[in-house]
Amino acid sequence: MEEQKRYGHFDDQHREYVITDPKTPWPWINYLGNEDFFSLISNTAGGYSFYKDAKFRRITRYRYNNVPMDNGGRYFYIRENSPSTGGNWEEAWNPGWKPCKTPLDFYECRHGMGYSRITGKNGVEASVLFFVPLKKWAEVQKLTLKNESAEVKRLKLFSFEEWCLWNAATDMENFQRNFSTGEVEIETSPLEGLGGATIYHKTEYRERRNHYAFYHVNTEIQGFDTDRETFVGLYNEFANPDAVMEGRPRNSHAHGWSPIASHYIEVTLQPGESKDFVFLLGYVENEQDKKFIAPQVINKEKAHALIAELNTAEKVDKAFAELCAYWDALLNIYHVKTGNDKLDRMVNIWNQYQCMVTFNFSRSASFFESGIGRGMGFRDSNQDLVGFVHQIPSRARQRIIDIASTQFPDGGCYHQYQPLTKRGNNDIGGGFNDDPCWLIFGTVAYIKETGDFGILDEMVPFDNQPGSEVTLFEHLKISMDHVINNLGPHMLPLIGRADWNDCLNLNCFSWDPNESFQTTENVSEGTKAESLMIAGLFVVTAKEYVSLCHKLARLSSSQDTALAYEAEADRMAAAADAMTEAVKKHGWDGEWYLRAYDFYGRKIGSHECEEAKIFIESQGWCTMAEIGADEGMVAKSLDSCKKYLECEHGMVLNNPAFTKYIYEYGEISSYPEGYKENAGIFCHNNPWVIIGECIAGRGNDAWSHYAKILPSYVEEKYQTLHKVEPYVNCQMVAGKDAFRPGEGKNSWLTGTAAWMWYTVSEFILGIKPDYDGIRIDPCLPETATDYTVSRKFRDAEYEITIHPNGAQKGVKQIVLDGFAVEGTVIPYTPGRHHVEVVM
Ligand code: BGC
Repeated sequence: MEEQKRYGHFDDQHREYVITDPKTPWPWINYLGNEDFFSLISNTAGGYSFYKDAKFRRITRYRYNNVPMDNGGRYFYIRENSPSTGGNWEEAWNPGWKPCKTPLDFYECRHGMGYSRITGKNGVEASVLFFVPLKKWAEVQKLTLKNESAEVKRLKLFSFEEWCLWNAATDMENFQRNFSTGEVEIETSPLEGLGGATIYHKTEYRERRNHYAFYHVNTEIQGFDTDRETFVGLYNEFANPDAVMEGRPRNSHAHGWSPIASHYIEVTLQPGESKDFVFLLGYVENEQDKKFIAPQVINKEKAHALIAELNTAEKVDKAFAELCAYWDALLNIYHVKTGNDKLDRMVNIWNQYQCMVTFNFSRSASFFESGIGRGMGFRDSNQDLVGFVHQIPSRARQRIIDIASTQFPDGGCYHQYQPLTKRGNNDIGGGFNDDPCWLIFGTVAYIKETGDFGILDEMVPFDNQPGSEVTLFEHLKISMDHVINNLGPHMLPLIGRADWNDCLNLNCFSWDPNESFQTTENVSEGTKAESLMIAGLFVVTAKEYVSLCHKLARLSSSQDTALAYEAEADRMAAAADAMTEAVKKHGWDGEWYLRAYDFYGRKIGSHECEEAKIFIESQGWCTMAEIGADEGMVAKSLDSCKKYLECEHGMVLNNPAFTKYIYEYGEISSYPEGYKENAGIFCHNNPWVIIGECIAGRGNDAWSHYAKILPSYVEEKYQTLHKVEPYVNCQMVAGKDAFRPGEGKNSWLTGTAAWMWYTVSEFILGIKPDYDGIRIDPCLPETATDYTVSRKFRDAEYEITIHPNGAQKGVKQIVLDGFAVEGTVIPYTPGRHHVEVVM
């Protein structure tokens, strides 16, 4: 194996990952913004910004899969002419090394919670703090230039942003129009009462858009550019723009082509002097009747107001302190001290941070997701909730309503919806038969965290159609019914277009490379393909639904309502029993659970199959559902995962990998061996088996599977091989059959984040929110030592110390504020509490 270099390290005290070599094996990115205004930023300042929706409101332009990689971003070009340079203007350089790639004396990128600080030194030091202040539609870039030398430094500074013409998809394809629409306005210094200079991007504002963007700097400028071709030169690159190379701006005014924003500032720094410059990339929406102040002149009132809030280093520092305090509070909700740094930093910092990011973006915008193809996934966003609900329950509540509003009256739903419009995405449609179950999963997690049963009474429409509203509880009911109403020949759930595994397309039957695997159903009539993954998911979900109904019966004010809930609980318990029996009868292969039945009723994931004899998804869900536990099925299935799926980097999705395309199976067999859904380590589903292990009480096995895909363990060993960011989970790590086992892909936006959180917080460390309190039920490796979890829960705060005493599972005694508790649930009461748990 190649030599494993290190490109950075964790700084737990500051909750940062510190990158010390700009040439990471792949751009290592961070996310800025909490709500509405968002940015992606790489360790060399590449990336882009958008408002709410990376497709429909892209503010700055970014070209994916570029050469060189990660080109385009917010760039500062610096050139120096000082006594020691002999009166010559030195080569241009950037604090983030790219795009000029001039060698630096020092480089560092610190990715923190909602901010990144990139520092470069080349004679002078240039440090840029990037963040999106809370509740502001703007990215702040605070640049500090520092002269630590004994001589006077004279500098030319050029800023740079490239505007996207709003719709990121048409921006990349409709050039016959785009090259004629671009428009800007320029306000040079001094802005009345504000100072500084602002470049406005107002393409299409003259017609239907009521929004524009701006790029401001809080100081007087000596020039600017807004036309890309003039600034860069048609045959130059970001690395050597004409204006920078010649050291003079052109004061260009863009008319069509590609508008940009660049300020030119001349700076003199005395020995020991440092200067701050605040750049602000903002977004504004105007009311229809207040769009213009004169023909063609945009109303800048809101932009000026936003600038006034953030136009000094002091104001920016205050906004930054607020952002840090916000994260302090969020990360204090669940905090563990185990003494194992690698575990603590993931639980306390990075896993929770990634959960916020996946909640915000679902699978829409990363350096692998272009922000164009996929909005918010129905199943994805429901799962993301489980990792996020403890952080900001009110936002989780709104998300549940938004998701449920994309359902149809039969319980089916759109597979995805657009974040800006909240409307279901017609291009992909519905028909993924696992989707409905996840609504119960997300909603139950929300109610257990908050005790807010009132959400079930919210009136929620179908397909966003006004007048179609029913209660959220009714949405849950039809979600369950959707499974029951769509059973196949073995009384197992019909798979539809696919279940959780988007690539198991058993009704697709495609020989045409122009067809999409996911939306093509060449044999939908009389479809018979069935899924064991949905069967297990249904049983787990039904158990939750049944206990919710019992709880609602107890809370009911009338006897009739209580009886109705009890009857509903009985109905669903019977359905779960029937499903359990169907799995035991038709879904067991002797050593593991089958994966599916294909269109012809043939087994998938069986020892009888030539390839892909065993799949992970059904092992995870059927063991979580404890189907056939008494008959030994659960233990055998978990053992088979270890025997056939596990490898050095985690558990692969299926084994052996498919080596040829099977047209009855669809996309899954289209991937080369060991990648993605064809025997890749699809990290998302490893936690399912780990939870199965925890429920079975096998703490040693649970821990060893968990540590294999825990980023902090991987970080220590394999930064070069792993390739992608070492501080978060990625969707897929190449499996044992791949060309480079262990290589990661598709970082950041993956359900792995929420599932890793759910697994470690509730099943390994064993702190599980429940309707009436917190259930304590850890499952640990024998080597675990005493640990303490501080958990804020509703209006209470618990400090829970667990004494494992070498046990893997089984709580012997719980003492709450000095009194022994019956059972394993500490009943909820507001206030501060101290809990001792003996295993
Ligand atoms: C999708 C998930 C899906 C998974 C497995 C991901 O890319 O976002 O919805 O469950 O792939 O196919």
